[in-house]
Amino acid sequence: MSKAKRVGVLISGRGSNMASLIEACSSSDYPAEIAHVISNVPDAPGLEIAARKGIPATAIDHKGYASREDFEKDLDATLRDAQIDLICNAGFMRLLTEGFVEAWRDRQLNIHPSLLPAFKGLRTHERAIEAGVRLSGCTVHFVRTEMDSGPIVAQAAVPVLPEDTPDELAARVLEAEHKLYPFALKLVASGEAKVVNERVMFTSCPEVHGPYISPWIE
Ligand code: GRF
Repeated sequence: MSKAKRVGVLISGRGSNMASLIEACSSSDYPAEIAHVISNVPDAPGLEIAARKGIPATAIDHKGYASREDFEKDLDATLRDAQIDLICNAGFMRLLTEGFVEAWRDRQLNIHPSLLPAFKGLRTHERAIEAGVRLSGCTVHFVRTEMDSGPIVAQAAVPVLPEDTPDELAARVLEAEHKLYPFALKLVASGEAKVVNERVMFTSCPEVHGPYISPWIE
C-alpha cells in the first residue's frame, strides 16, 4: 500500500466526527492517518480527546486575529508545518475565504448533517422536520467557497420519524455521520474518489458516477 495520507482535522467543538476518523485511522490498512487536529475554539472538548489519543492538537483562536485572512494564514502555516495532505472539516464552524479554499482545492473535505443540496447552513434538523421530508441524512463533500457546496463524495440517508424532535433526528444522523466520514475519507485518501468536472468520479468504475452515490456504509 502507498504511504498513508496525512490528515489535518479542523474542529470547533465536541469532536465526535474527529474521534470516528481517529478510530478508523487506527486500523493498519486504512490509507490515512490523523496527523494534527486544530480548533478555532480554544476550549473545544475535541482538542482534549485528540490530545488523549496522542495526536498533536492546537488551538488557533480566530478571535485573536484582525481579519479572516490573518487567521487563515496561521491555520495554513500550521497545516503545512505538519505536512498535511488532506484536511477534514468536522464540525468546524468558520467560513473560509476563497484564498484558503483554493489553496486546498480538492484536498479539503467537509461533513454536513443533511442530504445536500437540501438544508445548507444551520438548524438543519429543525428545518428538515418543518419541511416534512421523510428522509434526511449526511453528506461528505469537497469544500468550495460557497457554504456547504462542492462535489459530493458520499451520502447516507436515515428516516425522519413522525414524532422526531430535532435532537432525536440529529442523534440518528450523527450515528450515520460516524460511519460515513471514515468511509468517504478512505475513498479519497486511497485515490479511488477524484474530482472530475466538479463531480466525484471513482477510478475503478470511471464510466459511472459511482456505486457510492448512496452507499451502504455498514
Ligand atoms: C456534526 O453534526 C457535523 O455534521 C456538523 O456539526 C456537527 C459536529 O459534531 N457540521 P462533532 O463536533 O463532530 O461531534
